[in-house]
This record gives sequence, structure tokens and C-alpha cells, in this order.
Amino acid sequence: MDFLLITPQARPGVALIQLNRPKELNALNGQLVREIRDALQALDADEAVRVVVLTGSERAFAAGADIKEMAGKTAVDMFLDERFATLEQIRRFRKPLIGAVSGFALGGGCELAMTCDMLVASETAQFGQPEIRLGTMPGAGGTQRLARAVGKAKAMEMVLTGEFISAHEAHRVGLVNRVVPVGQYLEEAFRLAARIAAMSPVAARLAKESINRVFETHLEEGLHFERKNFYLTFASEDQKEGMAAFVEKRKPDFKGR
Ligand code: HXC
Repeated sequence: MDFLLITPQARPGVALIQLNRPKELNALNGQLVREIRDALQALDADEAVRVVVLTGSERAFAAGADIKEMAGKTAVDMFLDERFATLEQIRRFRKPLIGAVSGFALGGGCELAMTCDMLVASETAQFGQPEIRLGTMPGAGGTQRLARAVGKAKAMEMVLTGEFISAHEAHRVGLVNRVVPVGQYLEEAFRLAARIAAMSPVAARLAKESINRVFETHLEEGLHFERKNFYLTFASEDQKEGMAAFVEKRKPDFKGR
């Protein structure tokens, strides 16, 4: 891995992936996107990992797709670019994924942040879809995820003007879960991750999958999907342990079985 730093057990049960292309503000070239995909696939298969935190640097989470790499491409080059399939694979990561965002989260960087299940932002974070200033538009889910996250009016304004919003604004419109001082965003993401890592990984995965259905299906199909996953948690030892622990007034010890 040239552009990532990976710590499989940054905290018990919590892995950290750090984008590490600092000079280019973590601009997402093809290789970096592939490395994120490969890292997530490995962590998905690692039973000791229950939650993953994805972060950049203090100055930039990611300033977008690599403009220098894209500038001369034709429509057919972009159509054939495997980056989009790779981003699709990132979206399919099954464990809870928390983004810890500081500085710029722009274009493809904002889209990558929105692929996370939850976001912790530093006060210096800025979110934006500035593609329109480059004569293009979001291409990796930006229009769809932003409109769902912040509503039509705000999404239109961000995508059509290319203007950035601050961390506090992002929090107000529901794009991020919490905003903390810059020295604390990673620690806060770990705190949130640790709380989730203490839960049943089986239930967490099924619940994540069910919430994502909201954005992919109609209500009736989503409700049906949710109920099936709910039944399925009763096939796990974790559910027996969780409910037994409640009755016995002790802390549950979830094993991911
Ligand atoms: C390639 C980038 C880059 C990018 C920054 N850099 N963003 N290189 N692609 N997206 C490089 C700069 O060229 C520069 O390198 C170095 O990083 C530092 O950036 P500066 O501009 O000098 O820093 P600053 O003045 O602080 O401005 C920061 C910034 C600005 C506001 C983030 O860099 C910027 O506007 N970047 C582009 C943001 C953007 O438009 N993103 C959307 C991309 S399109 P050198 O070598 O010159 O010092 C997209 C489409 C996705 O994401 C489609 C789906 C895949």
C-alpha cells in the first residue's frame, strides 16, 4: 500500500485506515481508490475487526478525484474507468464504517465520506461538491447521497454553486453525526467505534444492511427485508447472550456468532 496507513487494531476491535497522499491533499487517484477497496475487503474478512474508522489528514480528508489524472480523459475513458466499479465495491463494505473528517472533503472526497455510515467532523471540516466549477458534476453518488442526506434545496445549492459548507452547517443539515474541536475528531470517532464494537457484530451487520435498504428500495420491500434480518438475529448466540445478560443484570460479552 503506497497511499494508505492501516492499523488493524487501533483500538480493541477497531481498525483505522488513514489516507496518506498528503502533498495532493489525498486526491483520489485510481491507485488510492483501489487500495481503499483492498483494505476494506481484507478488514471485512478479519473476524477480529468489528468497526472501521476511515480518516485523512488534519488538512484534508480528500480533496476529490485526482483532477490531473482526469483532465485529458474522454467520455469513453471515463466510461471504461474501473474506478466506478471499485467505488461500488467500497460501498458494499459490510461492517460499520465511521468517517473521521477534518479539512477538505470535496467532490469524490465528499462522496467517499458519504459512503461511510456515520461521520465525525472536526470544526475545520469543509464539505462540498465543486465539480461544477470544473465543468462537470458529481459522478460517484454525490447527487443521490447528498440529496438524501441534506434534502433537495441544500443539495441543489451545493451542487449547482459548488460552494462548501462548514462542519457546523453539515451538522445542522444532518450530513455529519457530530462536530468536535480539531484535536479530538479521531479520538471521538474511536469512542463512537468502541461503543459499536461492544455490540453484537452479527446484529450490527444486519442492522446496517437494513438501514441501507431505505435508500435502495421502497418502504414495503424495506420493511420486509428488515423483518427477515430481525428474525435472523435470533439465530445468533449474541442475541441469546444479550438478552440473558439483561435478565441477569450483567454486561453482555458478544462473540460475533
Ligand atoms: C489533484 C489536487 C486536488 C485534486 C488539490 N490538489 N486537490 N490534485 N486533484 N482534486 C493538489 C493541488 O494541485 C496542489 O498540488 C496541492 O494538492 C495543494 O493544493 P492547493 O490548491 O495548493 O491548496 P489550497 O490553496 O489550500 O486549496 C485547497 C483546495 C484546492 C481548495 C482543496 O486544492 C481545490 O480546489 N482542489 C480541487 C477540489 C475539487 O475540485 N475537487 C473535485 C474534483 S472532481 P501542487 O502540486 O500544485 O502544489 C471529482 C469528481 C469525482 O472529485 C467523480 C467520481 C470519481
